[in-house]
Amino acid sequence: MCGIFAYLNYLTPKTRREILELLVNGLKRLEYRGYDSAGVALDAADGKDISIVKKKGKVKVLEDEINSRINELDFEGTTDSHVGIAHTRWATHGVPSEVNSHPQRSDVNHAFVVVHNGIVTNYKDVKVFLLKKGYQFESETDTEVIAKLVHHIYLQNPNCSFRELIEQVIQQLEGAFALCFKSKHFPGECVATRRGSPLLVGIKAKTRLATDHVPILYSKDAESQNPDHRPHGRGDLPILPRSDSTAEFQPLEDKEVEYFFASDASAVIEHTNRVIFLEDDDVAAVKEGSLSIHRLRRSLDDSHSREIITLKMEIQQIMKGNYSSFMQKEIFEQPESVVNTMRGRLNFETQTVILGGIKDYIPEIRRCRRLMMIGCGTSYHSAVATRQLLEELTELPVMVELASDFLDRNTPVFRDDVCFFISQSGETADTLMALRYCKNRGALIVGITNTVGSSICRESHCGVHINAGPEIGVASTKAYTSQFISLVMFALVMSEDRISLQARRSEIIKGLQHLDEQIREVLKLDEKVEELAKDLYQHKSLLIMGRGYNYATCMEGALKVKELTYMHSEGIMAGELKHGPLALVDNNMPVIMIVTRDPVYVKCMIALQQVTAREGRPIIICEKGDRETQSFASRSLEVPHTVDCLQGILTVIPMQLLSYHIAVLKGCNVDCPRNLAKSVTVE
Ligand code: F6R
Repeated sequence: MCGIFAYLNYLTPKTRREILELLVNGLKRLEYRGYDSAGVALDAADGKDISIVKKKGKVKVLEDEINSRINELDFEGTTDSHVGIAHTRWATHGVPSEVNSHPQRSDVNHAFVVVHNGIVTNYKDVKVFLLKKGYQFESETDTEVIAKLVHHIYLQNPNCSFRELIEQVIQQLEGAFALCFKSKHFPGECVATRRGSPLLVGIKAKTRLATDHVPILYSKDAESQNPDHRPHGRGDLPILPRSDSTAEFQPLEDKEVEYFFASDASAVIEHTNRVIFLEDDDVAAVKEGSLSIHRLRRSLDDSHSREIITLKMEIQQIMKGNYSSFMQKEIFEQPESVVNTMRGRLNFETQTVILGGIKDYIPEIRRCRRLMMIGCGTSYHSAVATRQLLEELTELPVMVELASDFLDRNTPVFRDDVCFFISQSGETADTLMALRYCKNRGALIVGITNTVGSSICRESHCGVHINAGPEIGVASTKAYTSQFISLVMFALVMSEDRISLQARRSEIIKGLQHLDEQIREVLKLDEKVEELAKDLYQHKSLLIMGRGYNYATCMEGALKVKELTYMHSEGIMAGELKHGPLALVDNNMPVIMIVTRDPVYVKCMIALQQVTAREGRPIIICEKGDRETQSFASRSLEVPHTVDCLQGILTVIPMQLLSYHIAVLKGCNVDCPRNLAKSVTVE
């Protein structure tokens, strides 16, 4: 949902070509977050102006534009200290176009330029205020008001530091944002801040860092200002008292340093693994090579510093390797990613499971009123997939909720509820808001995420990292199977001292032990699935039916087909067939049925016969060697047999492969489906 990248070199000479390459490369790593348009801003060759290059379309279009302007951009010119900011957009306000792309500027002289991820909800009020001050707007974006607002505040307070100006700006903004600013008035300086959208600072130095923590400095309390002095409060903007800026922090032993600001770690990992995850309302400023992190006001739970974390991510993890797309790579990584999810947690010999991130909370969880599993899209489906097992092994009521609907309903939540928030990115706005809603009501918050340092991770009381490795393809694949396994492991932990459940636990643990080989076997179906895709890709619609443990596979399979191929697809609970969807079935409608030998097998067979009786010609995903079931199929895909509650991991993979192949045959962009973005940080 928009990607921000900024690069600052201090006393480390770089050619402008190197700087531009670095910025464009950073955007390529973040492209999965949005790919409507892209742009960069850097100092102009004359050193006086700021050059902005923006293009509608993917980052490659921007790159080509930059390369066509080698002379104008002075590729060979060298600069010792410089700030460049860059952005890849997923449009929220204003259509994808050059003028709506970021960086947005304050004025034609480029006094201030800004890149933004998020939505400023009160931008209309701020715009009205600025229009009255004589500002003219060129774009339809909410972001442009930010650039103009900082300019306005600067004119009122020419002696304020860059950071102080931005502190004043963010007091006027409502909504969600991560912002990076550059200014002609403050050469070599960069200020970045966030509220609700992710942002991290990467630090690269020749010498070792002098510390692992950056202390937090507090600006004088802004609340002492007259609250009427807000743009939407009709007055003039407040002039903050100057804060104590002598306490700037020098995290390095020498001064040569490079800083990166990015929406996520994949954009910086090839440069440095030392990062700080900024918190909401942190204002990070770099001036003369020194980084400071300020906050406007203290709150009780504020820590005194931000830790410089060493990331464990490897560069290979964010490269495509020999695969044609990230999605394909991520599908084929599943034999390893499921093992990584279990590694160090599940001991197959002793049949014990330890989830370090939640172990201290297990007694409290066992005493709870109910478990609530909350997420969006694929993450929600992982909760649907494991709900039955969670009910069986925890013997607790389990509610499974879509975050947006959960909030719409103002669902009652109590202090003795335990709420799980499942999110690959850890940044999904709906899920994060549902988390805050439950936290405010006193529930215990458990995060299940794939992204270290993400908002959901940081705002949870405890949690489980699914350890699937970076997922870059917009369609979620390996995160789903790892979320699934994490929730199964949680159910195993909850039932470890229940004698009556030991036999069941034992069969599940054995099932988990063989999952990687079985996934490898399923992946061998790839060519067969591709053949099937050739038969299906010209159809308009695809129905996917199943029930019990496999119902989640139907919903997840349909979601993959929809988002990747733009074909209509529906996951249908087989028990509901006769209540309406059966009317869709005839000899032209493609139907996939998932029928495995679990407790609902007989009921699935009834549904299968209902379909064949209406001249439907179902394609069946079933267990290996199940000839009886296959006798009803027009075609079939066989997956190995595993314990019933894990079968959904093996049945979903053919659906991932099928959606991938249909998308390729239809010429769709597999990694960047139209209108979508990976991390949905807006409501
Ligand atoms: C579908 C997909 C989305 C996400 C959803 C939640 O392939 O990726 O449906 O699952 O946007 O995202 P996270 O898991 O990051 O909260």
